[in-house]
Amino acid sequence: MSDVLELVDVSVVRDGRALVDEVSWSVKEGERWVILGPNGAGKTTLLNVASSYLFPTKGTARILGEQLGGVGTDVFELRPRIGMAGIAMAEKLPKRQTVLQTVLTAAYGMTATWNEDYDPVDEERAKAFLDRLGMNDYLDRRFGTLSEGERKRTLIARAMMTDPELLLLDEPAAGLDLGGREDLVRRLGRLARDPYAPP
Ligand SMILES: Nc1ncnc2c1ncn2[C@@H]1O[C@H](COP(=O)(O)OP(=O)(O)OP(=O)(O)O)[C@@H](O)[C@H]1O
Ligand SMILES: [Mg+2]
Repeated sequence: MSDVLELVDVSVVRDGRALVDEVSWSVKEGERWVILGPNGAGKTTLLNVASSYLFPTKGTARILGEQLGGVGTDVFELRPRIGMAGIAMAEKLPKRQTVLQTVLTAAYGMTATWNEDYDPVDEERAKAFLDRLGMNDYLDRRFGTLSEGERKRTLIARAMMTDPELLLLDEPAAGLDLGGREDLVRRLGRLARDPYAPP
């Protein structure tokens, strides 16, 4: 029962087409996975199941010990335990907020907007995550003015803010140049070796 993720024969069917076709996938504590596949293969759809935003048409999905759609499973209790960084998330974030605010507001719920009423402890945490992702010099920059790579790193810091038990990154390297990819892979590798980092 200590599985982080346990998908058994999961299919997602839309308009008679299986976007995800009988996928079984088990993630144990401490494991790091990379999903590879061409455009349209169903990677984002699968991550939407893994993050509890999409229920399988067939099969069963257990996330952090909770069965999706099961009796006693409340997705609104489950979601804060999962960190998700992807394009869909980036589009929901206010462009005018600074980098620090963008990361900090994650501590107050997905849709929270900025107000001055924050905890200095949270600010220190936000700064520490941004530092680990090399975003120290960008704290006061507006989110909307960041380059693709800077935005990706900000989103990862943001996803870590709630101390998630499961961290899902959709296309973290898309839009990055070769140096940017290598830099991101190096930083993710360092985070993965951190004993306190989520799977
Ligand atoms: N709600 C939906 N209704 C119908 N088709 C959908 C829906 N959502 C996604 N699809 C289709 O499902 C397929 C898989 O989409 P998905 O976004 O999971 O692919 P992906 O592997 O993440 O691709 P990419 O590499 O381009 O991000 C695509 O062909 C997409 O058009
Ligand atoms: Mg995708």
